[in-house]
Amino acid sequence: MPTMAAVDVMRVTGRASLRGEVDVVGAKNSALNLMPAALLASGRTALTNVPRITDIMIMAEVLRRLGCEVRVEGVTVTIDAPERLSGDVGYDLARRIRASINLLGPLLARQGYAKVAHPGGDAIGSRGLDMHVSGLARMGAEVSSEHGYVIARAGRLRGASIWLDFPSVGATENLLMAAVRAKGTTVIDNAAREPEVIDVCAMLTAMGAQIEGAGTPTLTIDGVEELRPVRHRTIGDRIIAGTWAFGAAMTRGDLVVRGVPADHLAVALDKLIAAGAAVDLLADGFRVRMTGRPSAVDIVTLPYPGLATDLLPMAIGLTSVAEGVSLVTENVFDGRFMFINEMCRLGADIRTDGHHAVVRGREALSSAPVRATDIRAGAGLVLAGLCADGVTEIAAVHHIDRGYPEFTEQLRALGATVERVTVPDEPDPFG
Ligand code: EPU
Repeated sequence: MPTMAAVDVMRVTGRASLRGEVDVVGAKNSALNLMPAALLASGRTALTNVPRITDIMIMAEVLRRLGCEVRVEGVTVTIDAPERLSGDVGYDLARRIRASINLLGPLLARQGYAKVAHPGGDAIGSRGLDMHVSGLARMGAEVSSEHGYVIARAGRLRGASIWLDFPSVGATENLLMAAVRAKGTTVIDNAAREPEVIDVCAMLTAMGAQIEGAGTPTLTIDGVEELRPVRHRTIGDRIIAGTWAFGAAMTRGDLVVRGVPADHLAVALDKLIAAGAAVDLLADGFRVRMTGRPSAVDIVTLPYPGLATDLLPMAIGLTSVAEGVSLVTENVFDGRFMFINEMCRLGADIRTDGHHAVVRGREALSSAPVRATDIRAGAGLVLAGLCADGVTEIAAVHHIDRGYPEFTEQLRALGATVERVTVPDEPDPFG
């Protein structure tokens, strides 16, 4: 008889308020690029404030397969990169994290060859590679797609002028990591300005790279012959901090969030103020308090400094319990609204048309079994469960584990009644 695998689900008791203080660790989306950046220098790199989440463990294993010695101790990751790396990233591991594509730039720069599993799409939409590929091609690489792999070859990369059609975070980071050891000057125009991109620039600069314009749409990189390993602290995770900010507002709670500068969430906090929250800025974070029912507020996601697409599920959650009608517009991922079906199971009144969602707020949601479709949708459904009558069961919580370390424990410390239990598996259409 076939055996059934066991998976974890979360059970969240509704009508709860989040109250207290919460510390936020380093950003997943920074660390998943800082780790590949370590390949650019031989010797020992130490990264601190790295979150203990599944994606980081997978990236650590990928780097081991490339020939590095990697140690993960608490929130410190040390990577000892050898003189010669293997250019082959195993299919089984690499296809599990989108960020594996960010190995292309460093591997090409370091040794002129990379073979990385095609990251494909996922449950937030198609995720193109055209800007990664055309940028690397401009720098002299030959890139092809064969049997599920992206294969890139080059002699020494050369500096080039690159204009991105869209300020893609991943393409900016990949091209940046390729350019720092290319021959000559590279200019990346319409570059992404996310704090995680600035963090990668900061580490590369400490390693000896010559980069100008970090945090602006134009990055100018003068290639150098060699880089040295460094010790670097990962910036705080603004998406986790933003999740708590929305959580406080949705649940009519009061949270002090530390570890992330408030200006990394300027637009999000401004929207919460428009919805009726009191927001105080602190030296190392912020406080969000909401006393009554939130008011409806229109929300638009955009590349940084706009409101992050990764906070879209939280924005949908807030507007679902707000007084009035809100218009929520998603501009980054074509499939981000997939989780809205799950929100509707919880009684949310949402109508979508293309990349717009009209959300008619309700006083409370109604508990139901739902399924996390991706990391952020998972966290958003948990917060929505806190605003529902009864107990909401969220399946496929392994998605949440990819981005939120100790989420259950933190929710409990903030006063929520949440349990995590293991149940027999059902097939997960979202992987
Ligand atoms: N795009 C293309 N062609 C490309 C590159 C991107 O069409 O060559 C499109 C994508 O399909 C998407 C848009 O451009 O529609 C934005 O993609 P971007 O490259 O900016 O995103 P990413 O680098 O793939 C990172 C984060 C995501 C986050 C986005 C946007 C990492 C590892 N991932 O993805 O994080 O949503 O930037 O801010 O850094 C998450 O943490 O849950 C997550 C999905």
